[in-house]
Amino acid sequence: MTDRREPPDRSGRPEAGRFDLTGRRAVVTGAAQGLGATLALGLAEAGAAIVAVDRPGAPGLTTLTDRIEAAGGSCRPVGFDLADTEGLAGLADRIWGAAGPVDILVNNAGTARLEHFNQITVAGWRELMRINLDAVFFLSQRIAEQMIAAGIAGRIITVSSKNGLMAEAGLAHYNASKGAVELLTQSLAAELGPHSITANTIAPGMLATPIADDFPLDRPAFDDAWRDRIPLAGGPGSPEDCVGAVLLLASDAGRYITGTHLVVDGGVLADQLPRLRFMPPYRNTVRP
Ligand SMILES: NC(=O)c1ccc[n+]([C@@H]2O[C@H](COP(=O)([O-])OP(=O)(O)OC[C@H]3O[C@@H](n4cnc5c(N)ncnc54)[C@H](O)[C@@H]3O)[C@@H](O)[C@H]2O)c1
Repeated sequence: MTDRREPPDRSGRPEAGRFDLTGRRAVVTGAAQGLGATLALGLAEAGAAIVAVDRPGAPGLTTLTDRIEAAGGSCRPVGFDLADTEGLAGLADRIWGAAGPVDILVNNAGTARLEHFNQITVAGWRELMRINLDAVFFLSQRIAEQMIAAGIAGRIITVSSKNGLMAEAGLAHYNASKGAVELLTQSLAAELGPHSITANTIAPGMLATPIADDFPLDRPAFDDAWRDRIPLAGGPGSPEDCVGAVLLLASDAGRYITGTHLVVDGGVLADQLPRLRFMPPYRNTVRP
């Protein structure tokens, strides 16, 4: 077993300072596309060696690996169906055997369907929970044990959602899974704190990724209504907007942050009603 208690040598990247991840190994699930691919690229850019997990044969895994390696980084693609709950401990052990101990786990993989509460089937509910909740717990469980065994002050970062903090119609199963990972993260923080391992979530607002491509919606009308609900200028966020939050939680800069969530939603959860739109226009009282 490698002894990872010695702090990694970061002398080569002084500009990255306390956000530098040189010498750290990060596992990112659901890394073949969307937010996971962007987070993997961001972590690699900060110096981490990446283990990118996604469905077997996911074409995006090769593209991601090529991009990271072309930029001088390291990426190991691993094909695995995260719905195989019983196989998750074996996946963690395979990663340890092939790549070595893990410093950072990013539980990003997730799935969503938009359907009325009475359309949700038992099979559909179970499938979603296997990916969004069971995989988060059982992968974290094994990798946390490995971190403890290797003496690593590790980081577990789970991609939750603003839907884990406030519900949205048509997503009962998704909301429930994200609410569950919020409390699961607090539980992990409480039990792993004595081992210097932190556990946190990021809770993004709606991002442009393929996850909602199949949602049965009047898309243009919904997008207009949605855009109007975002307080921060510039409209909807992108996966890139989540990279800073993950780097904070993954790096030395975030060493004392645990058991909490970082909401990355442009202020949507901060504003319960679109009242501003119905008020007289803003007038600046400061004269330059
Ligand atoms: N896009 C958004 O608006 C948004 C907002 C808040 C939170 N999130 C969360 O961000 C995370 C990433 O979502 P995204 O928007 O990038 O979606 P996405 O559909 O673009 O990507 C999800 C990735 O997870 C992988 N994945 C799904 N099931 C898997 C399985 N059984 N085994 C292995 N890999 C599997 C997919 O293959 C895909 O590469 C999810 O947890 C999602 O809930 C997304």
